[in-house]
Amino acid sequence: MDHAKTGTADRSHTPHIIAVTSRKGGVGKTTISVNMAIALKSRGYKVLLVDADTTNPSATIHLGMTYSNKSLHQLLTRDSAISDHVTVHRQSGIHLIAGSLSRNPVPLTQEAERMLFDKILKSDYDFAIIDTGPGYTAPPAFRYDDGSLEILFVTTPSEPSLASVIRSVDSADSLGIKHRLAVNMVNGKPYQLTEHEIMHVYGGEMVGMLPEDEVVPRSVAENTPAMLLNKRARFSRAVAAMCTKYMQPSGAGYPQHPRNEEYDSGRRAGILGIFQSIFRLFRHRRS
Ligand SMILES: Nc1ncnc2c1ncn2[C@@H]1O[C@H](COP(=O)(O)OP(=O)(O)OP(=O)(O)O)[C@@H](O)[C@H]1O
Ligand SMILES: [Mg+2]
Repeated sequence: MDHAKTGTADRSHTPHIIAVTSRKGGVGKTTISVNMAIALKSRGYKVLLVDADTTNPSATIHLGMTYSNKSLHQLLTRDSAISDHVTVHRQSGIHLIAGSLSRNPVPLTQEAERMLFDKILKSDYDFAIIDTGPGYTAPPAFRYDDGSLEILFVTTPSEPSLASVIRSVDSADSLGIKHRLAVNMVNGKPYQLTEHEIMHVYGGEMVGMLPEDEVVPRSVAENTPAMLLNKRARFSRAVAAMCTKYMQPSGAGYPQHPRNEEYDSGRRAGILGIFQSIFRLFRHRRS
């Protein structure tokens, strides 16, 4: 069923887990996770947001909620269901599994993550958005190659940020996990990589070029996500457009960027080849 057309949720399928990740910090993972969750909820889906940044959880702050003892820490240390650890965000209706303020939070090991995903897959959510911390590498994929799990890589239009995503792309590919890319804080200045340059290196499906927009820092300061503070703002509209692509599971209708030959031969040569492709591109920009 095309959910985008009906605007309703199809509860017959298992939850669709989207892990929002980048090895690099500060690129906008939490901002995007929180706003995506709200955008999907406003389209009628049942949405769970999990703050899986065990070192520095911040979704609770973005949402203007208060910390309680309901958190990922409890979920991972007890034999219990997701519903026992969920807090409802009143303004949007999304369900949150908050990060823990414990001094010794349970680290998100592959085993812990597998437990989390297993519990999510037994729930009746349409979407589970997982906000991960910087340094996250790859999920435990081997049991999720049915498409119930995918990664949304986040980068800014800069070389170090893109290079860090490419390192993870290689592991996702080798595990057979579907992934797509969002580029955040785009301002069109000449020092930023262009969409074409980014796709030249990434080669997968791009789901959004999200603008740098002052609504975001303002929304963080006001503890009210951009999507609720001003849904007409450029950033909010770009997130809403990006979410539309997740309502069409195949990504249908979105033009796939043509992979270039250099990229494909880089992929065949493994991670080293991909980096050579990036560096050739960057040298070309400077010449
Ligand atoms: N599109 C945007 N426009 C302007 N500012 C932005 C945008 N996206 C994020 N920011 C700002 O960048 C900062 C980092 O954002 P955020 O906390 O979402 O990144 P993160 O990747 O989750 O960071 P961490 O790796 O530390 O978890 C925040 O101060 C946020 O306000
Ligand atoms: Mg974060």
